[in-house]
Amino acid sequence: MKQFSPSCERNQEPILAVLREIFTAPGLVLEIGSGSGQHAVHFARALPHLAWQPTDIAENLPSIAAWRAEAGLPNLREPLALDLFADDWPVKQTRAVVCINTIHIVSWQGVERLFAGAGRVLAPGGILYVYGPYRYADRPLEPSNEDFDRWLKARDPVSGVRLFEDVNRLAGQNGLLLAGDRAMPANNRSIWWQKG
Ligand SMILES: C[S@@+](CC[C@H](N)C(=O)[O-])C[C@H]1O[C@@H](n2cnc3c(N)ncnc32)[C@H](O)[C@@H]1O
Repeated sequence: MKQFSPSCERNQEPILAVLREIFTAPGLVLEIGSGSGQHAVHFARALPHLAWQPTDIAENLPSIAAWRAEAGLPNLREPLALDLFADDWPVKQTRAVVCINTIHIVSWQGVERLFAGAGRVLAPGGILYVYGPYRYADRPLEPSNEDFDRWLKARDPVSGVRLFEDVNRLAGQNGLLLAGDRAMPANNRSIWWQKG
């Protein structure tokens, strides 16, 4: 049942360093697109002041549940089904939303759903954190991300590396203000917004 993602192994420490910095207060973190469940275990173990709620589409929940059962962490909640396209999210209010390597997988309508949902469920002052590759209007995309974008689109034409400016506009439309944008290893970014 347990799926293993090599990229999670590579990026979990650099992501954790950012999460430590921005999630200093106790509270609930809603993770969207938790994937294998490795990140949820790693972050919940390292950040015991947070209650970590992993979610994904239903077919991915068994792997997350298996990682969770093995870890036995009191602050790691049972995974819940959350499809970005569902009208009702299983979590109604949270201090933070985390979405790693998912914005370039789902369609643009899925990205719109993510920001609308985060704007709805985040408490005032709450944070939406995303991680992944992004384009920027003022500079060419890195060759590694150009290749990745081509690979994504060949696999599914609705996927693709998103333009930061488009995503940031969407954030603004949902009451989220840019709070940080940091370069990460392998031409990825950590970007986070705060609800006003
Ligand atoms: C590339 S994986 C990233 C998984 C994990 N966050 C990681 O970094 O390894 C993209 C994730 O998006 C999830 N996903 C795809 N469509 C979704 C949707 N409509 N709603 C919620 N999650 C979705 C997939 O199931 C998958 O877990």
